[in-house]
Amino acid sequence: MATVRILYATTYGHTAKVAQHLAQAIAAQGHRASVYDVATNPPSADLVAADAIILGSPVYQNRHLRPIHAFARQHRKLLNRTPSAFFSVSGVAASTRPAAPAMARKVVARFCVATGWYPSQVAIIAGAIPYTRYPPLTRLLIRWFMARQGGSTDTRSDDVYTDWAAVTAFADAVVRELF
Ligand SMILES: Cc1cc2nc3c(=O)[nH]c(=O)nc-3n(C[C@H](O)[C@H](O)[C@H](O)COP(=O)(O)O)c2cc1C
Repeated sequence: MATVRILYATTYGHTAKVAQHLAQAIAAQGHRASVYDVATNPPSADLVAADAIILGSPVYQNRHLRPIHAFARQHRKLLNRTPSAFFSVSGVAASTRPAAPAMARKVVARFCVATGWYPSQVAIIAGAIPYTRYPPLTRLLIRWFMARQGGSTDTRSDDVYTDWAAVTAFADAVVRELF
């Protein structure tokens, strides 16, 4: 049985749901998975004991969140010598535009260079757009952004673009790397 740690940061909570889904998929394969919000519940030194480490962050203004960035940079040596994976949750990953996948990959590539951590596996996951929870200006901004991405511009609804089967497949791929 392997031990997998999943660490994430989030602003509106969707990345936490993706982290929990990964943990359930890993547990369903008979392994131990624990989930940490790095901003509020950072793991202690027992992190070292993990067989695999997964980090995840949403993208805001073309960057991953600071707590995950800081964690990856601080622990890059450990991460680079442990089977490790990164999932990036974004609006652009939900886009139908042909240029979108390259844009999403570029944000991840910049993150890897800036932190010095090169995960063995990366997943780019379409996130959620909870329009009704945004302050008015943010709602307008994201409506404009989603119009450009070919997504919904109906600000009365909260939209989830995540392909949960793809999240499960990513969890399975991380576990496969260990055996
Ligand atoms: C203010 C704001 C800025 C955003 N900037 C980007 C961005 O630059 N690129 C992108 O692909 N998605 C962007 N998004 C979409 C988020 O990545 C998406 O909503 C994600 O699911 C948020 O995850 P969370 O609920 O874990 O915070 C932005 C969303 C908001 C509200």
